[in-house]
Amino acid sequence: MALNSGALSDHGHRRKPRADAAVEVNRSFDDPAPGFSQLFGAPLENVGPCHPNSTAQWCAFIIDKLCSFEYTPMYCEILLNGSLEPSVDVEEGVETKVSEIADGIYRLSTYVLDIAPPVGFTFNQFLVLGDEPLMFHTGLRKMFPLNRDALSRIISPERLRWIAFGHFEADECGAMNEWLAAAPQATPAHGQTGCMVSLNDFADRPPRVLTDGEVIDLGGGKRVRFIDTPHTPHGWDAGVLYEESTRTLMCGDLFTQLGNDRAVTDSDIVGPAIAAEDMFKYSCLNPGMGATIRGLSNLAPRTLALMHGPSFTGDGAAALRSLADDYDRRVSGQASELLRSSAA
Ligand SMILES: [Fe+2]
Ligand SMILES: [Fe+2]
Repeated sequence: MALNSGALSDHGHRRKPRADAAVEVNRSFDDPAPGFSQLFGAPLENVGPCHPNSTAQWCAFIIDKLCSFEYTPMYCEILLNGSLEPSVDVEEGVETKVSEIADGIYRLSTYVLDIAPPVGFTFNQFLVLGDEPLMFHTGLRKMFPLNRDALSRIISPERLRWIAFGHFEADECGAMNEWLAAAPQATPAHGQTGCMVSLNDFADRPPRVLTDGEVIDLGGGKRVRFIDTPHTPHGWDAGVLYEESTRTLMCGDLFTQLGNDRAVTDSDIVGPAIAAEDMFKYSCLNPGMGATIRGLSNLAPRTLALMHGPSFTGDGAAALRSLADDYDRRVSGQASELLRSSAA
């Protein structure tokens, strides 16, 4: 059974929640492991207590309480011409630019004007260049040739040792198997939920399962720490990656913005992120979201590497706290609206 595929694809096509998942949820489970097992069977038995306890609760929410939350796959919402067919065509002339955004961390950026015209939209992958190079985000499958050629300007793709990403979605990991084929020594790496729910089946080679806070030592002074951020900004399996030596937080879809700014900026990234959220409504608003993002501010990152936007250098903690405040505002606003409508 695909995770709630009927209901989520319904969001994708019409954005109207529909609690139609034909799944019996045992509401008595307190420990995520038996809950996961009841829902998904043997492949999930290894999901252990290290995963935040909220996960099982959220699992139940997703399946049974769709009306409380909105999930909007981005590429359906952003088509502004009335069509709801998700599509990202890579046209001739589209190029992938390479920039070093922190010491030994490279941004591979592809700008697509046809998404949210006239300002367009960027898709960014990040190469962390240790002795065991790691790529964060694979890019869309259709963009693989662009990204492979861009990476080849820095290292040979065969040298890649790790393929990681924020959550299971086409732009984050659509080209995973293409990269695994191009880099025979590479291993996919992701959090417990994502591996159990998706990668154990999807990936052409077995993944390394990362617990919350687990570090991969890439050698050459580079260490990346995986941090679980379930449902933040979206995706049950969501997480971010923090490179310790450069204090670079690879934020995935957090701070998503439109347009094609410089590769590195010290300008405000919170205002553009709020505008993009207003437009796309791409986040899975949930009561823990503000706290999750605020928790990342404790890292005091010096660089915030955005998947859809520039890389920000400056007070990353302040930017994260400000974004967390905005999501708290959204969540409480949505809760008040629900209370009002249910009282009416
Ligand atoms: Fe996403
Ligand atoms: Fe993304």
